Amino acid sequence: MSPAVIGVPSETIAHERRVALVPAAVATLVKADLSVIVETGAGTQAGYGDDAYREAGATIVGNADAIVAQANVIATVGAPSAAVLGSLGEQHTLIGFQDPLGDPAALQRLAQTGATVFSFEFMPRTTRAQSMDALSSQATVAGYHAVLLAAERSPRLFPLLMTAAGTVKARSVLVLGAGVAGLQAIATARRLGAVVTAFDVRPAVKEQVESLGARFLAIDVAGEEQAGGYATGLNEEQHRLEQEALARACADADVVIATAQIPGAAAPELVTAAAVEAMRPGSVIVDLAASTGGNCACTRVDEEVTVAGVLILGPSNPAAAMPGSASDLYAANVRSFLQLICPEGVLAPDWDDEIVAGALVARDGHITAERVLQRLADQGADRA
Ligand code: NAI
Repeated sequence: MSPAVIGVPSETIAHERRVALVPAAVATLVKADLSVIVETGAGTQAGYGDDAYREAGATIVGNADAIVAQANVIATVGAPSAAVLGSLGEQHTLIGFQDPLGDPAALQRLAQTGATVFSFEFMPRTTRAQSMDALSSQATVAGYHAVLLAAERSPRLFPLLMTAAGTVKARSVLVLGAGVAGLQAIATARRLGAVVTAFDVRPAVKEQVESLGARFLAIDVAGEEQAGGYATGLNEEQHRLEQEALARACADADVVIATAQIPGAAAPELVTAAAVEAMRPGSVIVDLAASTGGNCACTRVDEEVTVAGVLILGPSNPAAAMPGSASDLYAANVRSFLQLICPEGVLAPDWDDEIVAGALVARDGHITAERVLQRLADQGADRA
């Protein structure tokens, strides 16, 4: 068991502006007897300079090689860079978003280094793990950002305004999927004065939608809930019924914020090309499911598409657009997990703890998560 030295390299994925630890989280960890080293400039895009990290008790080093050489725990937002990956070994423990089901081959390469790897995607969604739920913290930022993006690109104001020059009608916003991002999108659109309607296949969220002042769209389809509150896919007939009902709702909406996802599977196509064509010109769709295939048939990842006058935006990493708040929240998730696996400043995970076991995806040179092994086997079978 070794004293924990936490390393924070700069993120290298294109457009990633977040950082895994912010100075406030560093200060808490240092007080709890952990050492923290941060790559120079790692927090700049999130609004935190090297001096702020030094004041919080971190040591600043010049490059990722120095991080890997000195740290035994490496905290990242996204998958580690090639520079980090190339020098990892069994002495290292990693924590971050690893996209274990989206890119299991990358996780396999990571596992082969011998490092112990934890993935936020697999953090159990239990009350005890809430402070470590990075999927939720980042979805909150994404839902908020999506509405601002839509409001900025919409040719019309959102709120009802009575002015001397006449009355401005309130805009109507349709939110698809009322999970964490969807609920935040509803709340944000309401604050901007829009009239909001929302739909989710989990009937349990109807009350939450209504408590935010939105109308729950009555469509006679309901999905199953899996463990952790996640939705499962609909059958073909139910999916068709949903698409038809949503086409009518989209035609009445000025803005659509689409957030529907099925963990481990492609996002359901909810807005067909025909539904887009039937929308009013000037309408805006923000598709937060873009990176898993999109909820709208016309979405292209990180591109702006215009179809029949309707603008469709598919940001792949919306939380990174607000890197300050996204990093503050993410760092609190990382800090909380580090406090769990490094009691009294020593790296000593309790492998029987359900949070540790749930988030673990690789150890001793092997992938440990059954779902990832299954995904790799399926991909191998598809190629054969
Ligand atoms: P997500 O990002 O996987 O999906 C977003 C939403 O899309 C979900 O609400 C899902 O039901 C909905 N959806 C899927 N297919 C759809 C379709 N065909 N049409 C319309 N909507 C569809 O989900 P997210 O936001 O990560 O969270 C899902 C749920 O997990 C939460 O609402 C909650 O119940 C549970 N959760 C529990 C937590 C805890 O107990 N600590 C923390 C966070 C979430």
